[in-house]
Amino acid sequence: MTIEKSLPLHSKEQPSKRKNGLLASTFICFFVLGLFIHSPKSTSNSSIVQNTSSYFKTFFEEPENPDGLCPIIKKINPHDYLDDLKTIDYILKDKSFFNKCKDNLLGAIQIPTEVYDDMINPNLKHSKEELYDVEPRWKSFEAFHKYLQKTYPLVQKHLKLETVNKFGLVYSWEGSDKDKKPIILAAHQDVVPVARETLDQWTYPPFKGGFDGKYLYGRGASDCKNLLIGLLNTVELLLKEEKFNPERTIILAFGYDEESAGSGAFEINKHLVSKYGPDSILQIIDEGNEGFVDIEGSKFILPATGEKGYLDSIIEFYTPGGHSSVPPKHTSIGIIAKLIEKIESKEFSPILSNINPVLNQLYCIAEHSPNLDPKVRKNILKSQVNSNANKKIVEYLSKNKETKYLIQTSQAIDIIQGGIKSNALPEHVSILVNSRIAVEETIEDVIEKYKSHILEITDEFDLGLIISGQEVIKPTKNGYFNYSLVEPLEPAPVSPINGESWNLFGGSLRYLYEDLIFPDKNDSFIIAPFMSTGNTDTKSYWELTRNIYRYVPGLPDKHSGIHSVDEKLIFKGHLHMIAFYYYYLQLIDGVDDKRFEDL
Ligand SMILES: *[C@@H]1O[C@H](CO)[C@@H](O)[C@H](O)[C@H]1NC(C)=O
Ligand SMILES: *[C@@H]1O[C@H](CO)[C@@H](O)[C@H](O)[C@H]1NC(C)=O
Ligand SMILES: *[C@@H]1O[C@H](CO)[C@@H](O)[C@H](O)[C@H]1NC(C)=O
Ligand SMILES: [Zn+2]
Repeated sequence: MTIEKSLPLHSKEQPSKRKNGLLASTFICFFVLGLFIHSPKSTSNSSIVQNTSSYFKTFFEEPENPDGLCPIIKKINPHDYLDDLKTIDYILKDKSFFNKCKDNLLGAIQIPTEVYDDMINPNLKHSKEELYDVEPRWKSFEAFHKYLQKTYPLVQKHLKLETVNKFGLVYSWEGSDKDKKPIILAAHQDVVPVARETLDQWTYPPFKGGFDGKYLYGRGASDCKNLLIGLLNTVELLLKEEKFNPERTIILAFGYDEESAGSGAFEINKHLVSKYGPDSILQIIDEGNEGFVDIEGSKFILPATGEKGYLDSIIEFYTPGGHSSVPPKHTSIGIIAKLIEKIESKEFSPILSNINPVLNQLYCIAEHSPNLDPKVRKNILKSQVNSNANKKIVEYLSKNKETKYLIQTSQAIDIIQGGIKSNALPEHVSILVNSRIAVEETIEDVIEKYKSHILEITDEFDLGLIISGQEVIKPTKNGYFNYSLVEPLEPAPVSPINGESWNLFGGSLRYLYEDLIFPDKNDSFIIAPFMSTGNTDTKSYWELTRNIYRYVPGLPDKHSGIHSVDEKLIFKGHLHMIAFYYYYLQLIDGVDDKRFEDL
């Protein structure tokens, strides 16, 4: 994930401040009632217990606060459904397992799968050899694949591996029941490059890595070889035990350029849609928020259920040239400066509506965080029925840059180019404006805003305008603007939080934190939705399912150095992740798909 994807929320370490990053979704959590019939196992050596009544009971229990705006998801204890979970203890406590996992992750870090923006799409060359001739930097991915083959012999033997667009990896553990929708666990193989000038600032060399007893260091340690290796460690362990034979197909989908073009996930999506069809997947869980946060006195687990949209607007401006001894009053650079001034003097409007996951996160904080300012609490709870309360909350969030852009489209003029010579009038100037689009807005809304500013300038100076190849105003003798779009991406559809998919994921996470990680504390962990201001590989996967969660189990760390020097991971969290997926994959396997149908 890219840096802007992790939203700093206020944590224990900063008790003096009172603002939060927040989250929510279109749906307020109504607990649905429906039939749950646990289908009998066809393969009887699975460890799922045949106890329909207990499945039924827990999954349908009323939340503790049924009338609340943020119902507390029931904790799901896997011991109620699965036999023989002694392995969880082994995962968390066995020294040799710990060492093996550590070595597996260090080995993965030692293969520098760096991606750069200028690396060509592997599909442009027929064979890998032809590709390496023009772009040898792709070679490290082949080495990475060999490493995985060698490190995970049982995965290699029992799972079907499809290689998509040369480097994308899709592993399938075929389930015995083809009527059950598969689950996809995603991660990416690539890492952001290490700036060579920073090499001497690393505690351990970034592509060698190291372990200091608490942290495991290295490029990719937390973004996101941790996740990729953790998933493979889990599946290898399940295979080794030979007790679990899935009914539901488990798919591991690993893209190769999440940090640049995203062509890996794009191609993997095409492959999976052609194989399974649209809306054919139960859940997709990918990288995202890690661990939990303490917000105003309560602990929150915040899987992202939405992502903002994205747009790069390139606005070029062409004018006749000439000698700079006889210039017009405004050169093209002067005119584009006026445009910039207009864009920046009017920001996008903040909106907090019930389609934004931020609102549901706010409800959860308002109902469950004891230390929240009571005035803020009251305004949050009234924010959808009282416009004054809504305004107050919008102001509250807008005071802090970290929370402001959860409810507002951003605009940043990131590149400007123009002029080549001291005595020549600039004939060509261009700017790039980067926008992250709020869930309530669309690409079209963003274009409209920039277009309205350009039209003020074309009026004033009698200029033409072309947008995406369409002539809006005919170019004049004074010149014209040429507005083109790069990488337009609408905001992601928000994943629902009013159904069993969310309850099962959230309830299982509560068990991890409350019973396995902090058994000596009495904290209840609140599961709330979150929104990411950046994008992950999931941007390619919308067609496959509505249930997309961007979240990594483990321990949170404010200083994980993602994308920078000394990237590191609290290694214990890696084992927590394995423990979680160990029982979660078995748990979700036993659930009847009728439970997930919209009612
Ligand atoms: C099923 O679970 C319920 C509740 O946990 C328990 O009371 C009952 O004895 C279990 N039945 C079987 C057959 O294990
Ligand atoms: C406008 O920009 C697009 C994208 O760079 C380019 O393909 C097109 O030729 C340009 N049109 C004009 C008239 O400058
Ligand atoms: C947890 O709750 C139990 C029972 O309410 C209590 O006896 C115990 O002291 C609590 N532990 C902590 C760490 O607060
Ligand atoms: Zn990432």
